[in-house]
Amino acid sequence: MYRAEKAAGESALPSIDSIPTATHDEVSRQMYVSHLRKYVMLDLQKDMRDVYDSAVEPRERARTGEAPGDALAVRKAMQPVNFYRTWSSLRYNAQEMTWHSVQGEVERALPDLIDVADEAAERSPAGGTLRLNPATEIPKAVSSLDIHLMPGCFHTEYKNDDVAVGAVYAHGTKVFSGALKKARNPGKGGVADSTGHYLKLKYPDFNPKRILDLGCTIGSNLLPYHRAFPEAELYGIDVGAPVLRYGHARAEAQGIPVHYSQQTAERLDFEDGYFDLIVSSFFFHEIAVPSTKKILAETHRLLAPGGVTIHMELPPSSEVDAYYNFFLDWDAYHNHEPHYAAFRQQDRVVLLSGAGFAAETCGLVRIPDRGGIGDEEFLAFAKGEGQAPEHNNFSSYYLFGASKQKADNVA
Ligand SMILES: C[S@@+](CC[C@H](N)C(=O)[O-])C[C@H]1O[C@@H](n2cnc3c(N)ncnc32)[C@H](O)[C@@H]1O
Repeated sequence: MYRAEKAAGESALPSIDSIPTATHDEVSRQMYVSHLRKYVMLDLQKDMRDVYDSAVEPRERARTGEAPGDALAVRKAMQPVNFYRTWSSLRYNAQEMTWHSVQGEVERALPDLIDVADEAAERSPAGGTLRLNPATEIPKAVSSLDIHLMPGCFHTEYKNDDVAVGAVYAHGTKVFSGALKKARNPGKGGVADSTGHYLKLKYPDFNPKRILDLGCTIGSNLLPYHRAFPEAELYGIDVGAPVLRYGHARAEAQGIPVHYSQQTAERLDFEDGYFDLIVSSFFFHEIAVPSTKKILAETHRLLAPGGVTIHMELPPSSEVDAYYNFFLDWDAYHNHEPHYAAFRQQDRVVLLSGAGFAAETCGLVRIPDRGGIGDEEFLAFAKGEGQAPEHNNFSSYYLFGASKQKADNVA
């Protein structure tokens, strides 16, 4: 279809997202899976907490004299419970079905998807760039298993110039979170939109010239920085070529120039002090702790004096109770995310200061999703009034970050 349009002289780069077309049955399957996930993650999760509070925790207290004190102890107590076993198996299956529900439409559209990405790479009409390096060594944390059960993970290429896993991620994540997100503020919200506007409102004099997103995948949490800081140049790095090709085509069709490159975040080829803002979203929980330390040190090197780094991640284990830690750490055991629990146990301020940031600039904050509350409430929050909602499926985000002091560069 795209080839035919091109032959007929159509010249605008189409939105790569809109190329796959789901059949009636696929749409209904996707809606079913999305609502199944909502049922598992919200409704059944509340009931499971009741089972824990009313039966499992009192039983453990009677047996040992105290309530389970951490995620592992709660997990041991919950593992034999039929409610948990059923919930866990539903959740696992819903996760697998999320990706499977979009694979058919992606496979049918693959030749067109590749054509569009190739054309984006040739023409880059918005002025972005795509630098791929086939010699990039894919880290073991990515190559050795399909992270969050997505077939092919972020890097597998089945064909020349492949974009398939980028497309599966783009469409699958809509199924994954579609029924869970309650947008009160349409067109707004998500990690990057919320974080970008939080920074802008809280620090009105902060105007980054260059922004880098680490582990950007297809740029879902990079492009919204263009709304918050329209003058800034955007850069995204990732190890996966197919997700970068897809992300580049997506940004070009939206008219947003982004400089994508295939590199490992532990050692990047940008010069010292090149960026004013370095961000990431849902990235560090997929990285082993020794690599996290290297990446944060690299972040410190790459920031200009006065620059800021800010990362969205899952709640640290110290911030939530033992039960919620057990609930969150499910992914470490069943969702192919082996570094998830170990990362959450780290003290993020210690990680940042160990990477070279002055301790007094390091911090942790939970911000509301900008799509879930009104503009005035969001502004009030950024000014220090009011609290972000509890962490619960996209209602708020935990951020950790630091700034590079101007004096740091004197030494
Ligand atoms: C969960 S995804 C990030 C999602 C993305 N930031 C978003 O918000 O949509 C993690 C990404 O990090 C990439 N990645 C993992 N290890 C990396 C490394 N050492 N260097 C660069 N990218 C890496 C993966 O290829 C994957 O695309």
